[in-house]
Amino acid sequence: MRRKIVAGNWKMNGSRDLAQALVGYVRSQVESIDNGVEVVIIPPAIYIGDAACLAGDALALGIQSVGQWESGAYTGEISAGMAKDQGCRYGLVGHSERRQIFAETDDMVAAKVERLIGNDLDAIVCVGETLEQREAGEAESVVAGQVRKGLAAVTPDQWSRVIVAYEPVWAIGTGKTASAQDAQAMHASIRKVLAGMGAPAEEISLLYGGSVKADNAAALFAGPDIDGGLIGGASLVAEEFVSICRAVPAGA
Ligand code: PGA
Repeated sequence: MRRKIVAGNWKMNGSRDLAQALVGYVRSQVESIDNGVEVVIIPPAIYIGDAACLAGDALALGIQSVGQWESGAYTGEISAGMAKDQGCRYGLVGHSERRQIFAETDDMVAAKVERLIGNDLDAIVCVGETLEQREAGEAESVVAGQVRKGLAAVTPDQWSRVIVAYEPVWAIGTGKTASAQDAQAMHASIRKVLAGMGAPAEEISLLYGGSVKADNAAALFAGPDIDGGLIGGASLVAEEFVSICRAVPAGA
């Protein structure tokens, strides 16, 4: 169940041409990446169809956000079922940009997790503290609260569909990363919170995100509780993204 994953979140970037070029390149390299990592591409939803044509079985696709409802009169929203229909295997939930810019609450995160899992998608649930919270010594409690509330509706048989991505808000798109030590400590803390919820914590993949680049990925991924990464900016640069995928340690 616990597996190594590197997921590239393109956010609202790119074009159809870029999507085709990026997915084509990553696809051409993925079979030579022999560390057992699962490579996930999370393009803007409108390019998922294009990406799916090129991805084949070797690359997994994800959607950046889904509506919290199954279907209905929600103009502009995309349902988890639609994402599944287009070939997605993963859905991102609770990204700090969604929380901060689109007011996504923990309750909405919980509802979206339910929709994703109910539609046979794996949920990558993002959590992370702001700089103010870290400086106030609240990082662990903030993250623990997000994990507990965002995963409140997960039933015992559904934990295999849950992945948690720890992304300190102050590290996203800033060029700053958590130190390898702080990142490992937070991942270990998240695993304890999951265990306290009755989840099979040792079986759940935990990813680090926030300014992961080719030159810092190996140090971050070396943490025993860190099972890979969620990559933003660097996932738009094909060779760099592939280097990050290669930086996951083999085995373990
Ligand atoms: P970044 O973004 O790698 O550009 O910092 C990470 C993310 O937002 O998932």
